[in-house]
Amino acid sequence: MADDDAFVHLLRLKDTMTPWALRAVVTLGVPDLVAEGEKDVSELAQRSGAVPDALRRVLRLLARRGVFTEPRPAVFGPTGLSRLLQSDHPRSMRPWLDLEGPVARGDRTCVHILEALRTGGPVHERTYGRPVWEDLAARPALGAAFDAAMAQRASWIAGDVAAGFDWSAVRHVMDVGGGTGGVLAEVLRARPGLKGTLLDRAPTVAAGREAWGASEAGQRCTFSGGSFFDTLPSGADACLLVNVLHDWADEHALAVLRRCAEAVGPRGRVLIAEHLVEEGAGGPGAAGLAELDLVMMLVYGGRERRLDELADLAGKAGLRIGDVSMTPRGLSLVVCEAETSAAG
Ligand SMILES: C[S@@+](CC[C@H](N)C(=O)[O-])C[C@H]1O[C@@H](n2cnc3c(N)ncnc32)[C@H](O)[C@@H]1O
Repeated sequence: MADDDAFVHLLRLKDTMTPWALRAVVTLGVPDLVAEGEKDVSELAQRSGAVPDALRRVLRLLARRGVFTEPRPAVFGPTGLSRLLQSDHPRSMRPWLDLEGPVARGDRTCVHILEALRTGGPVHERTYGRPVWEDLAARPALGAAFDAAMAQRASWIAGDVAAGFDWSAVRHVMDVGGGTGGVLAEVLRARPGLKGTLLDRAPTVAAGREAWGASEAGQRCTFSGGSFFDTLPSGADACLLVNVLHDWADEHALAVLRRCAEAVGPRGRVLIAEHLVEEGAGGPGAAGLAELDLVMMLVYGGRERRLDELADLAGKAGLRIGDVSMTPRGLSLVVCEAETSAAG
């Protein structure tokens, strides 16, 4: 690549403002306002509590990045991107970008990436005085907003998880760290005879029960608040772990796998849904996954893993990896069985 091209490419890569400009306008509710129709920046500023000149400069950047249209000077309108940022969109990305919410709060730890490089991370405690899970527990509103963000993501993947695993031999599935249960509810709806247990932190499980406990699927579910580092409730013949292990360093991920293996016993299964890292350049989602891996390092002290790394952990928990498949959105579905049942 010629130096001129490399210079332009690097300017784009070093992008300082777009990620934060996006978060700022989402926090101010600008996508909701432009959804009503094209609006002059003076009205947008007045209704969102911003200074018109500052808002115009932020929106000019985002219009040039394709988030809004600017059909006339200082007039901004919606696009397919801004629609997904509206609060009333059923799969709104707002919970992931709201600067007053827990996810963008975690993103702010990125300013300490140098320290994470020198220590191996995480840097959440350095930034906010507490590790992330303690922080969410200590601030219930933040914890609830975190659950809402996870539920939003679950709405994208629940159908794929329900369709992607073979549930025919499962009688009772426990969704471990299942959040408010969006994925479990979908699995139970798809398999009418199946029983479920939703296991997560007590306030999260309570929110799940409130949301879908009264539904037909909810009637087949036990809502169980507790820690997945403690002995899990008995009765399930399969544990489901959706985007849980990547939150944790190996030592803790192994502890969760051991609790699951103990809970399902020698004839049970542990079903893992996570994105798996491939060595080399990888497919279209590879850069996004590499980025997510850094968020895991900085915020949670976790990591995205390769299949062999997951297999290594599973082996230490007495589990052997069987079928591995991938959903259309690139989530890997990994079936683990007890080593003893796989051998005999
Ligand atoms: C990344 S979220 C995934 C949620 C859900 N599986 C999904 O895919 O939407 C991780 C979940 O682990 C839960 N969690 C964290 N620490 C936990 C603990 N010690 N015991 C039980 N659940 C925990 C969080 O409350 C959160 O719901």
